[in-house]
Amino acid sequence: MHYTCSNDKGFLRRDAIDRLMHPAVLLPIVIAMIVIGALWPYPDELPNAGASAPVAPAPSLTRLEETGRRLYLSICSYCHGPAGDGFGVNAPNLAVPPRDHTDAAYMRTVTGDDLFAIIKLGGAGRNKSALMPPWGGRLSDREIAALVAYVQTLSMLGPAPGPNEPRH
Ligand code: HEC
Repeated sequence: MHYTCSNDKGFLRRDAIDRLMHPAVLLPIVIAMIVIGALWPYPDELPNAGASAPVAPAPSLTRLEETGRRLYLSICSYCHGPAGDGFGVNAPNLAVPPRDHTDAAYMRTVTGDDLFAIIKLGGAGRNKSALMPPWGGRLSDREIAALVAYVQTLSMLGPAPGPNEPRH
């Protein structure tokens, strides 16, 4: 029978195994494994289940802005678009186009209080289209403040989407 290993012709002979287990050999291997383990890339965040389309990586946001971003992606983006540029999936159904929050020239003309009021009271409450719903009944003032803070970051992002997302 040829498939059994005899002691002296085996792939790893007893003395070879002993040499391998020597600290001078083993230690560098263990250190290398620890270093590789520490440097191995680790996913920061699970994919955002609320987003309807891939979103440009967020710049560093404050905690308040990050709260706003999450709310925005779940309840605002279907009209205003995940990038806030007004191209949400529901936008074609609206007679009045949702505001483009990335338009810095326009966004400079509205104050944080204006944004707060229209988000809380809706378009109808501010002489604008009723197609912008009022959120005061569903969101706390802090959540609305978080949305204001996030919306204000959108116009500072510049032209956000990459080449796969035309801005129309
Ligand atoms: C059902 C669609 C829809 C949803 C959902 C929606 N919006 Fe709007 N929004 C609009 C439309 C339409 C306008 C434009 C109103 C106008 O110009 O008369 C608008 C306008 C705005 C404005 C513009 C204010 C201005 O000065 O013109 C802000 C700010 C805004 N929305 C924030 C939000 C936020 C924040 C959310 C999520 C909490 C949200 N919107 C959800 C449709 C929507």
